[in-house]
Amino acid sequence: METRRVILSIAVSSLFVFSFVDGLSFNFYAASCPSAEFIIRDIVTSSSSNDPSIPGKLLRLVFHDCFVEGCDASLMLIGNNTEQTDPGNRSVGGYSVIESAKKVLEMLCPETVSCADIIALAARDAVGIAGGPMVQIPTGRRDGMVSLASNVRPNIVDTSFTMDEMVKLFTSKGLSVLDLVILSGAHTIGVAHCNAFRGRFQEDTKGRFTLIDKTLDSNYAVELMKQCPVSAMASATVNNDPETPMVFDNQYYRNLLVHKGLFQSDSALLNENSTRTMVKDFANNQELFFVNWSQAFLKLTSVGVKTGNEGEIRRTCASTNA
Ligand code: HEM
Repeated sequence: METRRVILSIAVSSLFVFSFVDGLSFNFYAASCPSAEFIIRDIVTSSSSNDPSIPGKLLRLVFHDCFVEGCDASLMLIGNNTEQTDPGNRSVGGYSVIESAKKVLEMLCPETVSCADIIALAARDAVGIAGGPMVQIPTGRRDGMVSLASNVRPNIVDTSFTMDEMVKLFTSKGLSVLDLVILSGAHTIGVAHCNAFRGRFQEDTKGRFTLIDKTLDSNYAVELMKQCPVSAMASATVNNDPETPMVFDNQYYRNLLVHKGLFQSDSALLNENSTRTMVKDFANNQELFFVNWSQAFLKLTSVGVKTGNEGEIRRTCASTNA
């Protein structure tokens, strides 16, 4: 009980710190657009009940937005050589949900609610809808004016990254090793295309199986091979979490411990004693994961935010106002 109180009080104080560090504040739209958060939640809820792939898409969208140019909706901009055109972003989705929310908000409170805030709030709601913690996040992010494909590669993690490479990138965003382990827990929902993990095993022309990456459980790898045969369409996907794919829970960490992490970068979290201990702690205690998730999510959605007079409030998320 005492431990729980300490963890919760750390979480509450981090909410307090983050509300001021970045020039963001809670209920930023209280006067200018009081129903903004309700509207976003409503649209995320209805979109997710029509299409269960939406929560996973929205959660990945905020990660890819925040790591490139900060959480400024630069990923929403359409055009030649914008972030969306980089292969690393090809399978990112959920844009239409953000645009739907923006459309309603523009009718209700024109040029007030940023696309960057909609992305962060929608991802927060996606986690809640999937059964995860509902995190209160500050708002007041402004939309960026720059979106360059060339900024994507240096700022987005690849599944082939080593622990050191991942830690280096996360550190450069102000996120710790603990944040890396916690935010990787996002892979408790959503899907992946076969090419994201196919290199971990091999299927010869006669359909025979060879395990390449020995950190992967071989029965699980055989299952993956069946779902992703060489003949599979490029659009084929598998669930990130083979056990509870639609639920935001701590199953991801339990999967890791039995060598069922889908990506090489997931399995890498077991390579070092310190991160392995964190994985075990979260596998054993969902509440601990949820409390820590709330803090890490606040940090993620605060990366490089633009506030005050920086950037603008776009009228549509796909293009700048100019
Ligand atoms: C730490 C390194 C990470 C790597 C290497 C990584 C890599 C990937 C890859 C390759 C996919 C599959 C994409 C596809 O084939 O469609 C994926 C999916 C996903 N990732 Fe990550 N990711 C990382 C961290 C994160 C973080 C921090 C978050 C969010 C906080 C996140 C959220 C997701 C979600 C929700 C999906 C499922 C997307 C969907 O269902 O459409 N990932 N990730």
